[in-house]
Amino acid sequence: MVYPTLRSFNVLMLSIASYNGLNAAQCAVALMAQGVAPLDACVEGVTLVEDDPNELTVGYGGLPNEAGIVELDAAVMDGASHRGAGVAALRNVRHPSRVAQRLMEQTHRVLLVGEGALEFARTNGFVEENLLTERARRMWLYWKRHRSRHDDWRPAPEDELPPEDRDWLRAHLPGLAGTVHCSVLARSGDMACVTSTSGHAFKLTGRVGDSPILGAGLYVDNEVGSCGSIGHGEANLENLSSFLAVEFMRAGLSPKEAGLEVLRRVSKNAHHEQRDANGLPRINVHLFLLRKDGAHAGVCLHGQKHYAVADEHGARLEACTPLHS
Ligand code: GLY
Repeated sequence: MVYPTLRSFNVLMLSIASYNGLNAAQCAVALMAQGVAPLDACVEGVTLVEDDPNELTVGYGGLPNEAGIVELDAAVMDGASHRGAGVAALRNVRHPSRVAQRLMEQTHRVLLVGEGALEFARTNGFVEENLLTERARRMWLYWKRHRSRHDDWRPAPEDELPPEDRDWLRAHLPGLAGTVHCSVLARSGDMACVTSTSGHAFKLTGRVGDSPILGAGLYVDNEVGSCGSIGHGEANLENLSSFLAVEFMRAGLSPKEAGLEVLRRVSKNAHHEQRDANGLPRINVHLFLLRKDGAHAGVCLHGQKHYAVADEHGARLEACTPLHS
């Protein structure tokens, strides 16, 4: 879909997202330009990524848990009301961010998991479907057959998977974490954010990461700014990264410095087994920070990744700043 650019608007309106959320950010800005509320626009943008069968780390087509079942986590947070909600380990529903938004709007609760989250989605008329695509099933089976030489499975022939899927698995192992995050700033000054994921590929059944947890996978304070994350969820849970990033911005750090300061903490706290021979973290965490005045940054522990920015000039990718280059 092509969204209109916003050259005609001179009031700041902005969205940032993880690299896989370029369409989400663009969609969110286009919707806000039509008067759609920030959180509604943000959820609608993320829905595009949840619907994409080729996005292996989010929604429909996401890689499954170790039992071959897709379990989704997502949360939303609305700056104006300072309310948020998340759903975790949700099966059979491709839009967990919409379910989380309903939870926020319809109840006094902030987090539902597993069967309870599914029951809530059913109550709201969400359609149930098998989220495991044929591509994801084949990648899961390949992983299962290569996992150990000491189990019942024989290794799959190399050509069992298309080269691009084999390469994808090699490039992303260990720590197959993806996720999409999107934060928005409306002309009113109101902010909102959404994070959605299928979590670590081949995770333990019932494993919940940072994405549905306010303060870990996302956080917004309407007076300060917003932050969201992709990457190793446990590190964000152990450091409450998104909350901390917003607090560092409140204390006066720029988005980039606030993000890097959080990553110094994450790096310092990384477990022994998560470090390479030089003592640097092998895990990765990306943070996307959007301040109330429109300043923004993407930072990561290491690597050359990008993040998406959409504003009145259209949508583009900008470079993340790595803590360890
Ligand atoms: N950051 C996504 C996850 O760890 O599940």
